[in-house]
Amino acid sequence: MSLKALHIVFALLTFLSFSMRGAWMLMESPLLKRKVVRIFPHIIDTCLLASGLTMALIYYEAFYTHAWLVAKLTALVLYIAMGSIALKYGKTKKIRMCSLIVSWLIFTYIVIVARTQSPIPFIYTG
Ligand code: HEM
Repeated sequence: MSLKALHIVFALLTFLSFSMRGAWMLMESPLLKRKVVRIFPHIIDTCLLASGLTMALIYYEAFYTHAWLVAKLTALVLYIAMGSIALKYGKTKKIRMCSLIVSWLIFTYIVIVARTQSPIPFIYTG
């Protein structure tokens, strides 16, 4: 399996595991506090980041000069921050729900940036 295919599988797994935990958060399920549920997503996220960075280093010279890759990395950091507010640090359910929706929007942005290789998809193609 190519590295890119593996990267896409990790992206899918991240989305599924995040959405599942998001649903458990909304249902106030005790499953969210299970050790395996707290550790496994970190392993997937690390694999996603590692596969992305490895491809960036192999395929692109000075990858940090490619705006879409910098946009992806920055958006990933925001996605992780919003995700932890949604699943853990958000003080009220309203804050957690809003953070969950923003996280999904950021994830969608990342996928579109990946597909178009543009930091401002459909507007800037340079
Ligand atoms: C939530 C996080 C991420 C998601 C959902 C994601 C998604 C994707 C998808 C769907 C593709 C395939 C695009 C296509 O060719 O059709 C891709 C490719 C790629 N991603 Fe990511 N990615 C993520 C994070 C990252 C990060 C952090 C990096 C590193 C800076 C990265 C670097 C790359 C590279 C270098 C490619 C290959 C581009 C090419 O074909 O030349 N990704 N990503």
